[in-house]
This record gives sequence, C-alpha cells and structure tokens, in this order.
Amino acid sequence: MDYSELKIPKHLAIIVDGNGRWAKERGLSRLKGHDAGFDNLKKIGEYALKRGVEVLSLYVFSTENFKREEKEVSHLMDLFLLMFKKDKNYFMRNNIKVLFSGRNEPLPKNVIKARDELVELTKNNTGGIINFCMNYGGRAEIIDAVKKINADNIDINNLDEKTFSKYLYNDLPDVDLMIRTSGELRLSNFLLWQNSYAEFYFPEVKFPDFSEKDFDEAILVYNKRDRRFGGHSKK
Ligand code: FPP
Repeated sequence: MDYSELKIPKHLAIIVDGNGRWAKERGLSRLKGHDAGFDNLKKIGEYALKRGVEVLSLYVFSTENFKREEKEVSHLMDLFLLMFKKDKNYFMRNNIKVLFSGRNEPLPKNVIKARDELVELTKNNTGGIINFCMNYGGRAEIIDAVKKINADNIDINNLDEKTFSKYLYNDLPDVDLMIRTSGELRLSNFLLWQNSYAEFYFPEVKFPDFSEKDFDEAILVYNKRDRRFGGHSKK
C-alpha cells in the first residue's frame, strides 16, 4: 500500500480482543489464544510504528480482568514478564519507548518491577511510544488524576483541560483512531478522556488474526472519515 498520500493517526489505540474466541474456534485453550495474541502484538506493534504511528496504546489487561480464573490471570502475568524482561531487546532493537497506564494494586511485585525497569531502559528511545494499558480502567484514571490534583493544591476554579491531562497516567495526545478487534462494539472503560474525539473502527477479525493487511485497511477507513471535532465539515 502506498502510504505517502495517507494521513496516519498520531495516537492509535487498540483494544486487543477475541483471543479466547480465536482459541475456542480452533479447539484450543484460552491460554493458547493469549499466546497467539502475544505473538501478534509484537508484529503489529512494530508495523504500526514503522508506518508512522507515534503513540500506540494497547489495552492488554483491564482492572476487571482480575476477575477471570486464576489460571488465566497468572498465564497473562507470565506473558507480561516474558515481554517486559526476556523480550526487552524487542523494544531496544525497534527503538521503542515504553510507557504504562494503570494502577499497581493488585499486580504482582515482579510484574511491577519488570514494568518499571522497562520504562527506565527505554526512556531515551525515539522510534515511537508503546503505552501498555495494564490493570487499567478509564474511570480509575480520572479518579486518580483528581486525587493528584488535590494533593498538588491546584486551584480547581482555574483548572482547564490541558492541566487536567497532565495529571493522567501519561500526558499523551488525544487518540485519533481506536480499533477494537473481534466485532465487539464497546469502549469498555478504555482511555475515556483521551478517546473523546477519536474515530472508532470495529473489525470482525479476532486479535490473533489481525494482520498487517487489516492494519492497512484500518488506515484506509480512517482516511475516509471526516473529522470535524464538533465544527462544520470542510468538504
Ligand atoms: C482479550 O481477549 C485479551 C486479553 C484480556 C489479554 C490481552 C493480552 C495479550 C494479547 C497477551 C499479553 C500481552 C502483553 C503486553 C505481553 P479475550 O480473552 O477477552 O477474548 P474473548 O473475548 O474472545 O474471550
């Protein structure tokens, strides 16, 4: 695909969804679905940044996901450790800066440690940002921001959106395009503040099968949208 003529979303957000159903369709365990999602995440992450996305936010674990079976949660924690420790060269090789959004509690201590070490290791990388939303909830992020604003004795009467944004987990640009795979049409508490003016795209494909071609298709769809930000169409 010729990318030179295309507008690329500066901030792309993906709700990684459908790993479980992908596995079920193949008679595999849910855990195998996450393994396949994990492999694909690395492929798509690299591709998106190569195509000019500057910030890629990935919803890999919501606060609600802790309600899943113990076996599934601990497998996901193992995958996080694998990616943040064993695969850390992936981020260095691709010059990717890693950020995280989410609460600490009740993440295991070793995951928190690996997470923080990866942020430190990659902090000077300049080839784009991956923001892992892990143990993340959009409402929790807003509540946490309000608490930090209160602790900083900010004058609430003069509070504006720009200042508020600085108190979110990371001060990132607004999301331009939000993709949720697997045909589910919900936001599920993902980047509530940052998604305010995002374009939404809901492909049917389940995340382990979300290919580079599907990514290209999403970019084409995005290019056909008319973003007005509440104003009038320029067309
Ligand atoms: C949603 O599919 C996916 C998740 C809850 C986990 C996403 C995690 C990964 C892709 C692997 C680990 C990631 C990193 C960063 C190492 P689902 O289980 O809700 O699928 P279903 O709706 O079909 O059941």
